[in-house]
Amino acid sequence: MYILFLGPPGSGKGTYSRVASELMDIPILATGDMLRAEIEQNTELGKSAAKYVTSGELVPDDVMFGIIRNTLSREDMKNGVIFDGFPRTLAQAKMLDEILSNMNAKIDMVVELYSSDDEIIARLSNRRVCPKCGRIYHLINMPPKVDEICDDDGTKLIQRKDDKPETVRRRLKVYHKQTAPIIEYFKAKKDMFYFNISTGGPPKIGRNKMLKVFREHKII
Ligand code: AP5
Ligand code: MG
Ligand code: ZN
Repeated sequence: MYILFLGPPGSGKGTYSRVASELMDIPILATGDMLRAEIEQNTELGKSAAKYVTSGELVPDDVMFGIIRNTLSREDMKNGVIFDGFPRTLAQAKMLDEILSNMNAKIDMVVELYSSDDEIIARLSNRRVCPKCGRIYHLINMPPKVDEICDDDGTKLIQRKDDKPETVRRRLKVYHKQTAPIIEYFKAKKDMFYFNISTGGPPKIGRNKMLKVFREHKII
């Protein structure tokens, strides 16, 4: 099964795709996480992507095409993938359709998450992530058991560099202009299941709404 999680920055793509991945036992392909790892390791790809990621702009499509082609050719991606943060432009959406069709596969489900811009700006200033395992926390809504320490591996949590309010505002603008239009592209497809959920309230409510839809459609 090939599933996309679409939505603005901070709408919960990382949080909910992890829930879905555990329940369905399908690997996650999170382009933002991959780019941050490349930047951290100071690879050639990381060096060329850094200026886009830190300023909240999209990394050019041709760079993303290379990453996606390489990753989807991996053996563990052959039986299904949960995409978090890809595609983000119409060109990326069309390219993904083409690669999957060459693999005799297709996008089976799109989950759109949405929240208001004001809520997102407020929420991202309280996000913390574990640099070791990637687990996502929120200091108020989903705090770790011990202050700023990952529950799973005891690593000190960090704040993402692009979570400064001015960069979050830029990321939201970029989302509304370049990514939101692809929702119509997916909605127009007749051979896949689309649904959306508001993630405005506490994380548990959105999570339960998503699980209810999965159960109703016998996905889990
Ligand atoms: P990426 O890492 O994908 O960032 P993003 O899309 O901006 O989204 P976030 O990771 O910030 O938010 P999320 O939706 O995952 O929310 P989360 O679950 O953490 O991309 C980063 C950058 O990489 C881009 O700006 C771009 O430069 C580049 N890039 C990546 N992919 C690219 C592509 N395909 N093409 C070109 N460039 C690309 O939740 C947010 C917070 O809310 C957490 O703290 C969570 O605990 C909290 N929270 C509170 N209430 C809730 C609730 N009800 N539900 C869920 N979470 C909640
Ligand atoms: Mg994320
Ligand atoms: Zn951790």
